[in-house]
Amino acid sequence: MSREQSKRWFERATAVISGGVNSPARSFAAVGGNPPLVIERGEGPYLVDVDQNRYIDYLAAFGPLVLGHSHPAVTAAGEAALKRGPLTGAPHPDEILLAEELVRSIAGLEQVRLTTTGTEAVMSAIRLARSYTGRSRVIKFDGTYHGHSDAVLVRAGSGASTVGTADSLGIPQGVVQDVISLPFNDIERLRETLAEVGSEVACVLTEPIVGNMGIVNPIPGYLEEMARLTREAGALLIFDEVITAYRFHYGSAGALLGVIPDLYALGKIIGGGLPAGAYGGRSEIMKLVSPNGGMFQAGTLAGNPLSSATGLATLRVLRETNPYPRMDRLANDLAASILHLAQRQGIPISINRAGSGFTVFFGAESVTNYTSALAADSRQFALFHRLMLEQGIYLAPSRFEAWFVSAVHDVAHIEETIQAVDQTFRRMRKEALA
Ligand SMILES: Cc1ncc(COP(=O)(O)O)c(C=O)c1O
Repeated sequence: MSREQSKRWFERATAVISGGVNSPARSFAAVGGNPPLVIERGEGPYLVDVDQNRYIDYLAAFGPLVLGHSHPAVTAAGEAALKRGPLTGAPHPDEILLAEELVRSIAGLEQVRLTTTGTEAVMSAIRLARSYTGRSRVIKFDGTYHGHSDAVLVRAGSGASTVGTADSLGIPQGVVQDVISLPFNDIERLRETLAEVGSEVACVLTEPIVGNMGIVNPIPGYLEEMARLTREAGALLIFDEVITAYRFHYGSAGALLGVIPDLYALGKIIGGGLPAGAYGGRSEIMKLVSPNGGMFQAGTLAGNPLSSATGLATLRVLRETNPYPRMDRLANDLAASILHLAQRQGIPISINRAGSGFTVFFGAESVTNYTSALAADSRQFALFHRLMLEQGIYLAPSRFEAWFVSAVHDVAHIEETIQAVDQTFRRMRKEALA
């Protein structure tokens, strides 16, 4: 499998793009540091690199491509929108149709505002919670990713009143002081924290099913109690469903789990592969957003015609075809086979799965929060990733991401992947014995 063209393109990239990538998650730094592949195109369930190697894709562009690459209905909607003109700078029908579709299908979402990214959606939802409550502190959870705005790049130290530390340079101490980060799935810590500083807390922000320390499901009763405690403290509950909305069923993960937040942040799938995000909730809260209210949020490209058209087309296909039971079955079969093959080779792994998404943790027992996710072996994952890539399987280049089965994967793709996993585990076993 030649990688010559990829290498050449990536050398050019590193000369003009800092780090060679426009988002750090795309680099292969976390899986051994080889140059990442440069991808020419996507075709259904496949990625094709510039050397014309073809890979079965489980990255789904980090989540949005639930219908696979270049779905005909999505492509046609995008082409038609482009021909009508990519930007109007004025209200247009597709953004209204998309907003209607979101409001119809996301429980508790009465009004939305469309944004250009998930980052903006979360950032605006936090600002809105602060506007509504008149408070400034934010509670989030260790190891969750909510985009790259200042507040959510903070992982506070232990204890509610301890000053937090930022995960990035350039984040002012003033921002850090307002953010409290707690372990996920630990209701006692949340209870204690809210008892201590609840009257200063504007919002509790979480993914209902975590996607960014690998898939981590909430333990039974955790979200219900989180919602109760948050409201008791007079704070708003924000569900970041940038990954989870429309991933597991036609709607929010919150609704699937029976917990409806005060505000949602959405993204990824709702743009059908083009830049999109949204935030929203009850009209009584949303009326605070400018121009009706005093909370400012805007965007030249927000709700743009192209993203609205591709997002709407994606949602319509999902609603009409309901691929979810099939995707879940395939993901379940694949995950079960991976577990079985690992056991056969004596390689300890654990797998967390939610519907069509799952994460394989090497050397870790049961992963329920960031501390247990961190215990997963990065060297073993790096080797696994490299060997799978050599056999034509494209996985996210990080042990903290998910495999996403999409609507265009079929039994043959799953079987081919299982063969590759089998070969990979055999080689890993040999290397361990060598
Ligand atoms: C849960 C979650 N929230 C927010 C974001 C940020 O979205 P975007 O990358 O579109 O800014 C991401 C991106 O991966 C995410 O996974």
